[in-house]
Amino acid sequence: NWNMEDFINKTVAEIKEEIRDGKAICALSGGVDSSVAAVLVHEAIGDSLTCVFVDHGLLRKDEAKQVVKVFREEFHMNLIAVDARERFLNKLKGVEDPERKRKIIGEEFIRVFEEEQGKLEGIDYLVQGTIYPDVVESGVGKSSVIKSHHNVGGLPEDVNFKLVEPLRQLFKDEVREVGRKLGLSEEVVERQPFPGPGLAIRVLGEVNEDKLKIVREADYIFRDEIKKAGLDREIWQYFALLPNIRSVGVMGDERTYSYTVGLRAVTSIDGMTADWARIPLDVLEKISNRIVNEVEHVNRVVYDITSKPPATIEWE
Ligand code: XMP
Repeated sequence: NWNMEDFINKTVAEIKEEIRDGKAICALSGGVDSSVAAVLVHEAIGDSLTCVFVDHGLLRKDEAKQVVKVFREEFHMNLIAVDARERFLNKLKGVEDPERKRKIIGEEFIRVFEEEQGKLEGIDYLVQGTIYPDVVESGVGKSSVIKSHHNVGGLPEDVNFKLVEPLRQLFKDEVREVGRKLGLSEEVVERQPFPGPGLAIRVLGEVNEDKLKIVREADYIFRDEIKKAGLDREIWQYFALLPNIRSVGVMGDERTYSYTVGLRAVTSIDGMTADWARIPLDVLEKISNRIVNEVEHVNRVVYDITSKPPATIEWE
């Protein structure tokens, strides 16, 4: 167990010593690990670090704005924000298979990142937010791949960077502690896990902007109410998804034929196994009412009551 203050001082000194007048790049996703790694390296080398944030349009509501605000405005970091929303949507057109979506997004991400990196000169280092459990997981004893977990921010394979992985020895709660000490807000350090392919795997089947919008709005309401109910710390992950179904409903004297929104909330330690969260019924009621009232094209809300296994946390 590290004393995090010492860890920061020691690591910052080491990074300074290693990189000297070199230049580093990092892919910032907005997730806890990449955020803390970026801020830590920024602490050591300042403007010699350039962060690239790829907005693939598959993030949750307001997330892209938040990344720019935090890292550019609060931390004054060198941040390149790439609006690649259209690019990703075009690539995903007509694609229904979850694994293909993952593959396309992972590859496109690397392409965008490499393009940005190619515009910069003299980059020798790539910063990654690898943490201890990732190191262990990629080693021996890893069970068969059930879903390919393309972590957006993966190393472009054919590029000659030296890797800087300052969080390699830390567990998640230690990473959070380091983040706090470096001045990152609770909103960033307590961010729930979010898959690299983002909302693309929460819109089941083909992804388009209309469906993304529905899931984004519903998810926003869900998160808002969970937070208001004070449940955000005890639930490990919670989100809305859009199964590819419409069903009949009624509004006023009219019959509707609109989308169903699914809600998923789980308790878990590491995501390997999970149980569905026992959200109080009155909280669920409020969430459901708000979603059907506030989100267009939705007339039904369902709550997923399966554990993992046999289900997975995500629906795709
Ligand atoms: P499952 O659905 O496999 O999810 O029970 C376990 C955890 O992994 C996340 N997840 C992903 N993360 N890329 C990621 O970076 C992916 O393709 C991916 N698929 C699932 C999921 O959100 C949960 O936290």
